[in-house]
Amino acid sequence: MKVEEVKSTIKTQRISAHSHVKGLGLDENGFAIAQAAGLVGQEQAREAAGIVVDMIRSKKMAGRAVLLAGPPGTGKTAIALAIAQELGNKVPFCPMVGSEVYSSEIKKTEVLMENFRRAIGLRVRETKEIYEGEVCELSPVETEHPVGGQGKSVSHVVIGLRTAKGTKQLKLDPNIYEALQKERVEVGDVIYIEALSGAIKRQGRSDAFATEFDLEAEEYVPLPKGDVHKKKEVVQDVTLHDLDAANAKPQGGQDVLSMMGQLLRSKKTEITDKLRKEVNKIVDKYIDQGIAELVPGVLFIDEVHMLDIETFTYLHKALESAIAPIVIFATNRGRCLIRGTDDIYSPHGIPLDLLDRLLIIRTVPYDRPDMEQILKLRAKTEGLEIDDNALTALGAVGTKATLRYAVQLLTPAHLTAKGNKRTNITVADVEEVSFLFLDAKQSAKILSENSAKFMQ
Ligand SMILES: Nc1ncnc2c1ncn2[C@@H]1O[C@H](COP(=O)(O)OP(=O)(O)OP(=O)(O)O)[C@@H](O)[C@H]1O
Ligand SMILES: [Mg+2]
Repeated sequence: MKVEEVKSTIKTQRISAHSHVKGLGLDENGFAIAQAAGLVGQEQAREAAGIVVDMIRSKKMAGRAVLLAGPPGTGKTAIALAIAQELGNKVPFCPMVGSEVYSSEIKKTEVLMENFRRAIGLRVRETKEIYEGEVCELSPVETEHPVGGQGKSVSHVVIGLRTAKGTKQLKLDPNIYEALQKERVEVGDVIYIEALSGAIKRQGRSDAFATEFDLEAEEYVPLPKGDVHKKKEVVQDVTLHDLDAANAKPQGGQDVLSMMGQLLRSKKTEITDKLRKEVNKIVDKYIDQGIAELVPGVLFIDEVHMLDIETFTYLHKALESAIAPIVIFATNRGRCLIRGTDDIYSPHGIPLDLLDRLLIIRTVPYDRPDMEQILKLRAKTEGLEIDDNALTALGAVGTKATLRYAVQLLTPAHLTAKGNKRTNITVADVEEVSFLFLDAKQSAKILSENSAKFMQ
């Protein structure tokens, strides 16, 4: 028996610039509340995004695509992340930036396909034979090292599991002992062991111990009812990429899906098209048998104008396939050259036939009051104090440049305030930092006026 914890392959992403965004902030009828869930204004786009969320939830969106289009700093990325929040963590959401496909190591289409499969979930219900209970005994049994080595090694481990109905003693392999140690299982924890794979799940601390002094946040669970040895329905949410990855590794996979592990036991080391096809076949089979259910999630491709004609073509085709996620694009480009071509110009740099099948959500520049509200929210999230008139000044900077630039000035402004032995940001701080740091437009202007002074 081999126990290998399969790590989730969900991509972690830095979203600190959007940490104040908690959702779309809509009321029960789907109308945008002026300021809610960390979002301000941009009502139409938020309401449209709300409809997209509804369509995703009712599974009417698979294989379709949405484009968030609007000038820089108008909340496209923020709204896409709000969609993810609304969908909750049971629906896969895979964010990426268009330029990620240009890795020197991996083929462009390979990057896309991997992210595609990260965005497609599978909810699997398996009835598993398990041993479950509160650990009431945990004793490793040691033997002298057999081949003249030093020290002792664990030959097996005896574990006692207790439920409301009775107690059972199990004799387990040493590698399960390692797994128990890795999970930090102690007497008093409620765990279950899968009979087939030997995989261990620690469910929490038995609530008989709930009064013990504990510094760490601990989850307490009741003493399991019924027999120690029983059949239990286990629901697992995985993505197709999790399955690909688990089955590509020589060992492992058992924990993600024991049945997959059995079927694809051959030693593979990387994810190939062939492996994906095999995984698909098995997934189809389990869907037919009613064991698994497909949960199409969201693939979010920010700065989509960075993709080129080859990846667009591939994407278009992938959208047509039977298993496809919902794709959300975002771009701040107007009409521009499609990458990878010499002379094909098109709106947002997206080929027309793909553009044709998109639902487009427009974001518009913020007015001064909205901008000030957003800046206020950001200052609060970052724990910064700012004077009202400094906020007005920063709002003015934002309207001239972009909201993003204004948001970015908050931290340096706080630092100059600190340099002047103040805790609050004043107008003087805003003026100083907007003088010290250029926004993109100012910088571009200087470049064109002084082109002779730069290396060409
Ligand atoms: N309506 C809003 N409510 C609250 N915060 C917002 C709103 N719109 C944007 N923001 C915040 O303002 C900053 C800039 O917005 P965002 O990055 O979403 O713009 P964008 O449209 O994606 O710009 P770009 O085209 O440059 O990528 C972010 O910190 C974002 O969280
Ligand atoms: Mg963006």
